[in-house]
Amino acid sequence: MEKVFGYKDYLFKNCETSGFCNRNRHFANNIKENPNYKSKYAIDPQSIHFKSEDFIVNGNILKEVEGINEDIVLPFELSLLDKNNIRIKVDEEQRKKINLKNKLVNTDRYNETPNWSFQSLNLSYENRSGTKYDQQKDRLVIEYGTKGQYKAEVLYNPFKIIVYHDEEIQFIVNDRNFLNYEHWRPESSNAAHLSSEESDFNMFHDDFHDSRNDRIPLGPESIGLDFTFEGFKHVYGIPEHADDFNLKDTTDSDLPYRLFNVDIFEYETNSRMPMYGSIPFLMGLKPGVSIGLFWINSADTFVDIDKTSSDKDTKTHWISENGILDVMIMIAENPWDINESYGAITGYVQLPQLFSLGYHQCRWNYNDEKDVLEINSLFDKHQIPYDVIWLDVEYADAKKYFTWQTEKFPNPERMLAELDHTGRNLVVIIDTHLKTDYHISDQVEKERISINDPHNNTFHGQCWPGESVWIDTMNPNSQSFWDKQFEYSTDNEFMGKLSTNIYIWNDMNEPSVFDGIETTSPRDNLHYGDWEHRSVHNVFGLTFHEATYNSLIKRLSTTDRQRPFVLTRSYFAGSQRTAAMWTGDNMSKWEYLKVSIPMLLTSGVAGMPFGGADVGGFFGDPAKDLLTRWYQTGIWYPFFRAHAHIDSRRREPWVAGDPYTSIMRDAIRLRYSLLPIFYTSFYESSISGYPVLKPLFYETPDNLESYDIEDQFFLGNSGLLVKPVTEEDAKHIDIYLPDEEVYYDYTSGNISNTFQKFSGPGFISKSVELSDIPILLKGGSIIAKKDRYRRSSKLMARDPYTLTVALGSSGKAIGNLYIDDGETFNYKQGEYANIYFTATSDSIKGEISGDVGYIRSLDDIYIEKIIVLNVEDLSYIGIKQDGSQWEANFRNIDGNLIIENPKIKLSSEWAIEMHETKFTESDLKNSKNSNKSLKLDTKSSSPSLSPTAITYTGIIALVIGLIFYKLRSGVRV
Ligand code: NOJ
Repeated sequence: MEKVFGYKDYLFKNCETSGFCNRNRHFANNIKENPNYKSKYAIDPQSIHFKSEDFIVNGNILKEVEGINEDIVLPFELSLLDKNNIRIKVDEEQRKKINLKNKLVNTDRYNETPNWSFQSLNLSYENRSGTKYDQQKDRLVIEYGTKGQYKAEVLYNPFKIIVYHDEEIQFIVNDRNFLNYEHWRPESSNAAHLSSEESDFNMFHDDFHDSRNDRIPLGPESIGLDFTFEGFKHVYGIPEHADDFNLKDTTDSDLPYRLFNVDIFEYETNSRMPMYGSIPFLMGLKPGVSIGLFWINSADTFVDIDKTSSDKDTKTHWISENGILDVMIMIAENPWDINESYGAITGYVQLPQLFSLGYHQCRWNYNDEKDVLEINSLFDKHQIPYDVIWLDVEYADAKKYFTWQTEKFPNPERMLAELDHTGRNLVVIIDTHLKTDYHISDQVEKERISINDPHNNTFHGQCWPGESVWIDTMNPNSQSFWDKQFEYSTDNEFMGKLSTNIYIWNDMNEPSVFDGIETTSPRDNLHYGDWEHRSVHNVFGLTFHEATYNSLIKRLSTTDRQRPFVLTRSYFAGSQRTAAMWTGDNMSKWEYLKVSIPMLLTSGVAGMPFGGADVGGFFGDPAKDLLTRWYQTGIWYPFFRAHAHIDSRRREPWVAGDPYTSIMRDAIRLRYSLLPIFYTSFYESSISGYPVLKPLFYETPDNLESYDIEDQFFLGNSGLLVKPVTEEDAKHIDIYLPDEEVYYDYTSGNISNTFQKFSGPGFISKSVELSDIPILLKGGSIIAKKDRYRRSSKLMARDPYTLTVALGSSGKAIGNLYIDDGETFNYKQGEYANIYFTATSDSIKGEISGDVGYIRSLDDIYIEKIIVLNVEDLSYIGIKQDGSQWEANFRNIDGNLIIENPKIKLSSEWAIEMHETKFTESDLKNSKNSNKSLKLDTKSSSPSLSPTAITYTGIIALVIGLIFYKLRSGVRV
């Protein structure tokens, strides 16, 4: 079949045209074809020593090289860390001896990726119970895990690591002997240093588009290694790619999944092409065991996935251009523990300001102050809530960031004050390139904090403003320079006097260099420490948005809005600590709407939950139905922003007219009513690494069928199961229910909601209209929403809550709600409250825990409505709180109960007892022994609904509920 090359294929390398990937695949293919191949890599047993106090093993791997007598020494360090993480690092001894005349480049292998990626470099190993270490003749054996259920065998010759769970092999490092550590050699001795299975393709020069910029001063220095996931057919992660959730086989293609941050506008779907961000983290999943693999390397990386050579396993091959070999292997019995382990290393998502979970209105560009304020008031006219309006590059004078086009924005102070009036915010773009002939770039050059060319002079290239220089945020001196540009002080002309409702968007930080090969910086450019750009490429974007975050921390520290909001396009492992991301320049087409879901599920699994896609599509003009469906999908994105290209037509929600506008309005209002759930989910994620847009298998890790569902998700641990409609003209939708629990139809839209019951596992079919967003609420859940329309999230702060209680098949339900001030870091000092709801078929209870002062400040917040699904025959409801008791007003509609205005305060413990007959005093006192419990509706389609309800005391219910909840969610509560 003739191959068709697209424009993108021409612009970006594949494995064949990339020197190091080509050589590693060639090496692997030769080994595959030679069953008698004997690996050249072995651990020298004499070299091993063990530091028991730190649980670190050191030694040497020796690489045998044809044509030279001495082996290449590759010192390794193997350490056991908290949360069952094993780390192995391998360096190359001879690097210190390299002496390159007239070259300024650092000749070491880059080992500083963790300095940026990790939350802390002090990795500890404290939980040693169950750990044993045994050095045998041909291997090291380490038993670990709280019950000693894991074992790692480090084999000496050939070098391998085999990881077991309960004595069963789960994971093998270097299973197929693809370990390839290209050692340093001078160009002249190239041939002498090559083994028969190696290739010398583009070792010392790069001929991709004549790669005029890349001189490869250090020659070949790639690393390749294979990892087998034994018995796993599902692997997820390694964002960013516009592709399936469960990663595909790549062995037949010339493009493995590539991790190389690039400005890839109009990217294709169904593609393994590199994109704006890279997280070299993969999660393998099967019932009972989950594996996390973190390849700690920030250079250009390719990952080959082989699902075809074995019926039961997934084999992976990782190839990076350079750097030390640094790998973390995580093992657990479920996926959420892997998220916790990964987050313990790279950090958890920042708890965002509440406003940033609201709706963001962006386009390139809102033209001037008048335009901004007009859009602002049109939202009110159309009664659509929103929180943030955005300004793209045109607001700045000649795209010189840190300036305003003063004719268009004569008075930013006034504009921000006007937005602030209704609790709204502004985000402005600040990119990493800085226009030349401008005092900011002059200073960057003068202070020597730029990215430099190979001669160590400031590098100049092209980007939006024309000729530009790039600030090197890897240089420690850059931070104070950057801080000054954001300072909250009258000396700072750009934003020093502005009210603090202004936040930052960092774009083009891959970095995008229009005239660079693959639209980025030449690889032999230099960063601080004389590191070549090729070594740091994928982490550079993180250093940039982290510098902005740090500057905003300082700017906001003395104000009442302390938590920075930064959006970044480029990201790496660890970016979740300081920024939200979006999926870049998508198109106004159905397939981009559809792929946004697996893309965001993937970034959630890879520890970066705060993400979204441009609602409506960046390029093009979406048809009205597509735009409407995109809003109905976008309201579930953790980061919910509409954005459009400068050449596209205006498309704010009111432009399309009714019925579209009303449907979009309803969707956005639904997002606002669910903000308490989003915020609670973010809080949970910020302490556990748990995805906010949660793949189905987190609820049902034992159900293999649920592993393949990539167009549905749960909203955190709320029990809300969503399948947005992403097909044009859809009249029906099939929804997969992953377990036997009862699911209540919670579809939002025209269909009058009967809370019809379904149960799985399996697919159900529903008819849908354009106004419908298919949602189900899982039995066993209690959700807390705020249903009143306000202009922005800030104005909702004191609004009352509506609870929906969805009793599960066991007759119980639980839920929780996290609250704090939504803006400051006071929650870190304990100023927050956690509210736990529990229900059985005859009682509902609320308990609050947290800081007493903070809880008292919630005194004016009420629960205004409680909906209990699936109850009947009710005649009396009694409420108790703060020593008083009263009778509630309620209605029974279609077998569901609505308690109107129960007058319950959020700030103290309360209980509702539901009975068929009126309580007496002694009933209330002895309610825990009551046998007058309500009957669940036994006409349910769910086979397992219990006809007899169970009664518990509040405390027992709470404890059981929490255990149940924790089991379901894996979240520490
Ligand atoms: C590229 C970004 O991806 C896009 O969102 C933005 O509008 C343009 N740069 C202009 O700044």
